[in-house]
Order: sequence, then C-alpha cells, then structure tokens
Amino acid sequence: MSKRDDFGSSFIEPISRRHKKDSFESGQPSLDYYLKKQASQDVKRKVAVTYAAIDGRKHVIGYYTLSSFSIRLPELPAATIKRLPKYPQIPATLLGRLAVDESHQGTGLGEHLLMDALARALRAASEIASYAVVVDAVDGRAIDFYERYNFVQFPDNGQRLFLPMSIIAKAFSDPAI
Ligand SMILES: CC(C)(COP(=O)(O)OP(=O)(O)OC[C@H]1O[C@@H](n2cnc3c(N)ncnc32)[C@H](O)[C@@H]1OP(=O)(O)O)[C@@H](O)C(=O)NCCC(=O)NCCS
Repeated sequence: MSKRDDFGSSFIEPISRRHKKDSFESGQPSLDYYLKKQASQDVKRKVAVTYAAIDGRKHVIGYYTLSSFSIRLPELPAATIKRLPKYPQIPATLLGRLAVDESHQGTGLGEHLLMDALARALRAASEIASYAVVVDAVDGRAIDFYERYNFVQFPDNGQRLFLPMSIIAKAFSDPAI
C-alpha cells in the first residue's frame, strides 16, 4: 500500500447541495449517474454516505461511498475462513463506488480518495467492528487498480474484492507498508 500526500484531506467532505455535480464525468456513465441522481437520496435514506473531493469552485472532482455491509462466511477464501469464527455473516464496510473526474485522473486523486476511505473505515471500525473493506469494481481496469493496493478477489466473484481491516491498520501505523 502506498500513500501519496499531494492533496490536503480538508477538501474531502460529505456530499451536500452546495456541491456542483452536473459536469462530473469519470468515463463510467453508471458512476456519473449515481453521483448526479442517486447519491443524495441514498444519504437521506441512510443506505450510503458519499464523500466528495471538491475543487475551489465547489465542483465535485472525485467521490466515494461507504456503507455497512456483511460478508457471507462461505464467500471468503478458505484460508481466511479458517481464521474466523464460524458465524454465518461477517461484518464489513462497503466502499461501493469510487470515481475521479476525467480532468483529474492520473494525478493521484484516486489513490488519495481510496486512502481517505480506508482511514475513515478504520476509524469507524474502532467503534463498530468491521472485518474488512469490500469493494465492487466496475470493470477489469478497476480490479487492476484495487489489486495495486493489495485487495483480494472473492473466489466466486472476481468483481468484488476485500482488504482485511488488520492490514489497513498496519499500513496506517507503519508508513513503510
Ligand atoms: C480508477 C480511478 C478511480 C483511478 O483514479 P486516478 O486518479 O486516475 O488514479 P491515481 O492517479 O490516483 O493513480 C494511482 C496509481 O494507480 C494507478 N492506476 C490508476 N488507474 C489504474 C487502473 N485502472 N489500473 C491499474 N492501475 C491504475 C496509477 O498509475 C497510479 O500508479 P503510480 O502511482 O505508480 O503512478 C479513476 O481512473 C476512475 O475514476 N475511473 C473510472 C471509474 C472507475 O473505474 N472506478 C473504480 C472503482 S468502481
């Protein structure tokens, strides 16, 4: 895992009506549609929180969503199952979506948003237990992106990957990882 720090975290904040979303284009229409049409409703209904990276003119230049989640134990790799209690479901945190506006892709913002999401998930897990952060990748390129940060694919669903909270905790306590 690596953590570039080119961006102050102060401009990542929960999405609100003050933010301008209409020009957001990530190259993935479903992720653009979600930001423009669905994100605020999901916040209102308490099913997902959207955190947005905002530029000086209040335009959203990137975002991610977080929700509580549970993993059915048999979905995890056998080696992971061995180390877990035999509960039918294991608590987790879902990083459901992550996208960066095309004008800012390749500048480190995607990594910065991912690190912000992992740090936030780790803080929350100290109060409400979560075994791992789970991500849903939109396509093969997104899978490659998450694998760079040590996310592991679920055996029977390659679009879904996870990173144990214990590894996230180690990474944030030891900057060399
Ligand atoms: C995937 C995405 C979030 C990456 O954001 P980004 O700002 O372009 O990425 P960064 O500039 O932070 O790149 C961080 C590192 O990941 C690498 N990287 C970026 N996209 C990658 C990809 N698709 N596959 C593999 N590596 C990737 C970069 O080369 C960089 O590595 P480096 O530090 O060695 O140069 C962005 O391209 C995007 O929004 N894509 C469309 C939506 C999407 O696919 N979302 C993914 C989750 S659903």
